[in-house]
Amino acid sequence: MKLPGLIDIHVHLRDPGQTHKEDFTTGTQAALAGGFTQVFDMPNNAQPITTKARLDEKIALAKKKTVIDIGFYYGSLGDNLDTFKQVQDSVFGLKLYLNITTGHYKIDLATVERIYRAWDSKKPILLHSEEDVIENVIDIIGKTRQPSHFCHVSSEHELSAILRAKEKGLPVTCGACPHHLFLTNDVVDSLGPYALMKPNLKSQKDVDFLWSHIQDIDVVESDHAPHTKQEKDSENPPFGVPGLETTLPLLVTAVHENKIEREDITRLLYDNPRRILHLPEQQNTWVEIDENERYTLSNDALKTKCGWTPFAGWNVFGKIHSVNMRGKKIYDGEAVLTKPGSGKVIDAL
Ligand code: DOR
Ligand code: ZN
Repeated sequence: MKLPGLIDIHVHLRDPGQTHKEDFTTGTQAALAGGFTQVFDMPNNAQPITTKARLDEKIALAKKKTVIDIGFYYGSLGDNLDTFKQVQDSVFGLKLYLNITTGHYKIDLATVERIYRAWDSKKPILLHSEEDVIENVIDIIGKTRQPSHFCHVSSEHELSAILRAKEKGLPVTCGACPHHLFLTNDVVDSLGPYALMKPNLKSQKDVDFLWSHIQDIDVVESDHAPHTKQEKDSENPPFGVPGLETTLPLLVTAVHENKIEREDITRLLYDNPRRILHLPEQQNTWVEIDENERYTLSNDALKTKCGWTPFAGWNVFGKIHSVNMRGKKIYDGEAVLTKPGSGKVIDAL
């Protein structure tokens, strides 16, 4: 089966600042091995990407290190509203954290509203907002009509609120992560810190609700959030799981299990990501997979620097045979055939 170059609108490649976890080269190599030719990186670096200088530094680093195409989001803690105009041509949106997670960049609702009024762009605001706070943001979206994307919906409660906002005609979209679609909180006993992420894993009932509304979910986003094994095994394990190399085979497996159709893969990982981020079509760029070939996910085969996945040992369908970008084969199913710096930082104009 031939797929377009897939797009992951939500990754944390940790560069600069935490390159012991991942960097632009290893992170984009992992993306490539997972069938992605475009990824969009979040601003919760060790030093948050909340100034133009930090954004410019990040873009310059990525140019030298990326093997696929990459774009960025800006961040805000409420103290950089005067910089929005300077960065809006260089990013694909603004990411806000309304709950505690990696980086501790949580802001309150009054600040969120100030930021919404200052952003003044058709480019989306992406939200980490869990459970009840979703209703409060929807009120702000109702007042400002700012296009907004709810990242990683994980529960019936969250998705129901978003569906009501969609019914009212508000400009909202949402994404679900593979870990929230394929794991329940039952695995916490066996995986321990390796099943710890934000939002946390939910019950089977919530997972069933997400699947029963998969047609109302706009994208699947990996929320690739690598942390080292040493960090995960520590007393204070950080939140997050890697996902770039497991997202596509898990979705192909879902096709085999009749949970989605083949066309949903393109809808969730290509068409809607393009629509939400206003991306042009990728020229001469495609992925070859054998949708019927079965294989076992294993930590050893991963390109991500963190070297583990919560899906190790899972039997999946959908082996990737090649990834071709701008007419050139850059991944052959095992090896990355292209050099750091051969990918592009995507023009956000
Ligand atoms: O589990 C998570 N990890 N959730 C987030 O929102 C952030 C991410 C990270 O950066 O590690
Ligand atoms: Zn994230």
